[in-house]
Amino acid sequence: MTLKRKDMYEKSVAQTRDKRMKWWREARYGMFVHWGLYAFLERNEWVQAIECIPVKEYEKLAQKFKPKPNAAREWAKLARDAGMKYMVMTTKHHEGFCLWDTEQTDYNTVKTACGRDLVREYVDACREFGLKIGFYYSLMDWHHPDGGRCAYDPAASRRFLDFTKGCVRELMSNYGKIDILWYDVALPFKSHEGWESLAMNQMARKLQPHILINNRSRLDEDFSTPEGSVKPAKSERGWEACMTFNDTSWGYMSAAAQDSWTDRDILKMLNTASSSCGNLLLNIGPAPDGSVPTEAVAPLKNVGKWLAKNGQAAYGKVDTAPGSFGASASGSFSRKGKRIYFWVRCWPGREMGIGGFTTKLKRARFHVSGKKIHFEQEGHRIILKNLPRTSPDKITGITMIELDFVSEPKHHAFATTPPLLGDF
Ligand code: GLC
Repeated sequence: MTLKRKDMYEKSVAQTRDKRMKWWREARYGMFVHWGLYAFLERNEWVQAIECIPVKEYEKLAQKFKPKPNAAREWAKLARDAGMKYMVMTTKHHEGFCLWDTEQTDYNTVKTACGRDLVREYVDACREFGLKIGFYYSLMDWHHPDGGRCAYDPAASRRFLDFTKGCVRELMSNYGKIDILWYDVALPFKSHEGWESLAMNQMARKLQPHILINNRSRLDEDFSTPEGSVKPAKSERGWEACMTFNDTSWGYMSAAAQDSWTDRDILKMLNTASSSCGNLLLNIGPAPDGSVPTEAVAPLKNVGKWLAKNGQAAYGKVDTAPGSFGASASGSFSRKGKRIYFWVRCWPGREMGIGGFTTKLKRARFHVSGKKIHFEQEGHRIILKNLPRTSPDKITGITMIELDFVSEPKHHAFATTPPLLGDF
């Protein structure tokens, strides 16, 4: 019976998926924001659990949480300037503190020192800067008295599920059109039946017919969420890699600044995502007052500058591109139809070879200047000639080259050295 209901639900969701996901598949790049009481402690958003801090002690942090007005505008402006197209903010992380005006618990920003609905401010900021809006919601809850007990006590389980559904209902009802529902950590229940995810997500979809839902409520739903590495999903399924600026922490951690990403690191991740039709959701963990960690600002802005000129290679409908292993050590690709975008990260000087393409190359040129590049093609070998000595891109040093082939480019890595290397 349950199986049947699940099948029917998944079928109907699949029918509208392409239409609902069009914007997301073309957006490629979004900002993740982890913000909560853990920001005060600067020892990871799991600090409460890791360091065994009792709830009574931890919840006192709520009395100090008084962020500056409209911090979310700063994030949204930065996201827009960085070339990002959407945002996802933690409305409630595992700590259980709700950043919105909820009737489900008093442990929220309106009923504590802050006295404001921070989700409302975030939603308004996203709209002001033309960004699509995502809500992260942690199913696991360390503050709710039934958040752990629900695993073995049926009455507690009922209360906790009603609480969870109540939170999701409010988030899906009180803030106008929301684009993404981003669940996290479905514990302690081990199945979608345990969470009653079918009913919960059906409700979300009824309230927000355009919503995209991630795969963390123990149902596959619309897209996968690889974490900590930019790893393409198998099959045609949508995927979004989430990565964080703060070393392995998602919450604010000033000491992690020295390990944060550079503009080139970010573009490398974005290149990987766009070469395999996926998205990159890049996290900042604002300070308790809401400020963006300074180390994130310059790289993000620089990436934005670069994307303003080169974004065509990343945004929009892309196709799977061949891997650059066995093609070039100077950079990697993305692809749209017959065109390969070659993101050259390590500029080699006057000449550069590309191995393994078996399709005829029609034209090579610099993406930004439109200037043609002389080339020779023989067998599996393309040689780009008379190149400038140093990288023409002065923003990040990553230069975009367009390679237009006569038909969809076919590629065979190490095509001419089979006796040594075998079949790749
Ligand atoms: C993990 C962590 C969490 C973080 C999330 C981001 O599930 O528990 O702290 O919010 O990943 O994807």
